[in-house]
Amino acid sequence: MLQTPLTKLLKIPHPILQGGMAWVATWELAAAVSNAGSLGIIGAGSAPASFVREQITQLRRATDKPFGVNVPLFNSFADEVIAVCIEERISVMTTGAGNPVPYIEPLKSAGIIVIPVVASTALARRLERSGADALIAEGEESGGHIGTVSTLALVPQVVDTVSIPVIAAGGIADGRGLAAALALGAAGVQMGTRFIATDECIAHPLYKEAIVKANERSTMVTGYSLGHPVRSLRNQCSIGFEELERRGTSEEEVIAFGTGRLRAAVIDGDVINGSLMAGQSAGMVHDIVSAQTVIERTVAQAQALLATAPQYVVEA
Ligand SMILES: Cc1cc2nc3c(=O)[nH]c(=O)nc-3n(C[C@H](O)[C@H](O)[C@H](O)COP(=O)(O)O)c2cc1C
Repeated sequence: MLQTPLTKLLKIPHPILQGGMAWVATWELAAAVSNAGSLGIIGAGSAPASFVREQITQLRRATDKPFGVNVPLFNSFADEVIAVCIEERISVMTTGAGNPVPYIEPLKSAGIIVIPVVASTALARRLERSGADALIAEGEESGGHIGTVSTLALVPQVVDTVSIPVIAAGGIADGRGLAAALALGAAGVQMGTRFIATDECIAHPLYKEAIVKANERSTMVTGYSLGHPVRSLRNQCSIGFEELERRGTSEEEVIAFGTGRLRAAVIDGDVINGSLMAGQSAGMVHDIVSAQTVIERTVAQAQALLATAPQYVVEA
């Protein structure tokens, strides 16, 4: 068992969170992850509150373990989604893409553990002061919306800035990443890309296959011109998006081009015109297995590495 301040806070056996990924992270994946002793998280994405309530109901039928909901705060339904999560007394809320400060107090009053995603020490400091229970420090290696600092550099700096537990995200897909994150001072990890290629994830088989086929150079980042960079696998969609940005196409046209692309990839399996959001860790994903297998392998490998760590110390 890898006991950390995070496993104590969340009352779960393993210090692993499954990223709350829009479209991808539905109750099926979250249930498998929570039942395997990690924290499963429903990705609310831009879905309306009624969808999120239904997801929570289904998840509760499939597990009695703690779980979370991720709400990107740019979601125009964010207020309603958060109200549903408060009513439903979920265990944990993770937030991304926006300012979570106004929501922290009402969520905590409802007994919900609040864990925002940060990509800078300045935001980490502010959110600790505002009452966040833990933070996810997400590096630019991640799939989906990203910051500009790598995980290796960001995590220890966030750890040095705050005293609440820090969860490392971005570029982690196995026990080596978990052991490294713990060595950096993190209390656990969040993995996204690795969990897409699992049996329980509802993403289209062609999406999963694209991740398995990818190598470390298969991703690219688009959306810098909009101020919202996104990492995805290189395909006609991401190349077309980049081309529009390079030509200085208007923001409205660029946004219109991107609309509906993640859904097309996840639901329809359109690996050409859809947005295959994935991180650089895709090159480490070589198989499609159960979420439980991912978790067991990750924990066992990290434990073995940490147990033998002294062998890496070079005597003077
Ligand atoms: C397809 C996809 C969708 C994502 N959607 C969200 C989201 O809606 N909200 C969020 O906070 N993070 C989102 N993320 C980020 C993940 O939750 C996680 O932090 C990230 O994938 C970790 O990096 P990794 O992919 O290298 O494991 C998404 C990632 C992917 C791959």
